[in-house]
Amino acid sequence: MAESRVPRPRRFLVCEPRHFAVQYAINPWMHPDTPVDVDLAQEQWQALIRAYRAHGHSVETVDPVPGLPDMVFAANAAFVVAGRVFGSLFHAAERRPESVHYDTWFKAAGYDVYRPEAVTEGEGDLVWTGRYVLAGTGFRTTREAHREAQEFLGHPVIGLTLVDPYFYHLDTALFVLDDDNIVYYPEAFSPGSREVLGRLYPDAVLATRDDAMAFGLNSVSDGRHVFISPKAEALAERLDNHGYVPVPVDLSEFHKAGGGIKCCTQEIR
Ligand code: ARG
Repeated sequence: MAESRVPRPRRFLVCEPRHFAVQYAINPWMHPDTPVDVDLAQEQWQALIRAYRAHGHSVETVDPVPGLPDMVFAANAAFVVAGRVFGSLFHAAERRPESVHYDTWFKAAGYDVYRPEAVTEGEGDLVWTGRYVLAGTGFRTTREAHREAQEFLGHPVIGLTLVDPYFYHLDTALFVLDDDNIVYYPEAFSPGSREVLGRLYPDAVLATRDDAMAFGLNSVSDGRHVFISPKAEALAERLDNHGYVPVPVDLSEFHKAGGGIKCCTQEIR
């Protein structure tokens, strides 16, 4: 089975954690008195970038801005499909200024950026499956933003309701393996959303709360390699049994802010 898993090279956008810190609390993981080891965070982040490049992916960077400690979570800045950039409007006032810096990057790279009217946090809640968009709501991105995204992108947007505050973004509860399958933690979703996922992906790999608490659902797959938290050992083993190749990358310093591998990575399609 492993032979049939073919990686597709990706284009990633990231932001160096030079100004990373936990200075406010906008999710249950964040405790502003917890010190962050910025040197360790830098090392962990560099290791992620090296792992991407070693597996053939291209990585581009946005310059970090002082005073924006969560800017490292590049996934939240936009959602890009076929060159259409759906920008962000952050839920928390503390993060709203990030958008302008990312928009500047996109404009310099030759993209027009759609400015949403409703609260939406990029790939945190909008996930491209290869055929349609899975869209989280409940904590950050609103239903209204799902409608805006569908109108702007011209792809079906399937709304899913998140119910566990520890998994406040869709990308903390679900990730796409390839065009055919996903991994998710069912209990992070409302009963109806769970049913929807069950119908769309009857053969999905299901994760446990332990996998999710280990940031195992905040992974990035290229169709073969799965860049995954080493704490999510049980999930990595299940992926291995399904023919995927887990590539462990430890971003433990970022977990203190409620983020992991996927949060630090935006894919430009
Ligand atoms: N501290 C950030 C926040 O709460 C973490 C963002 C994590 N990003 C993600 N894609 N889940 O907004």
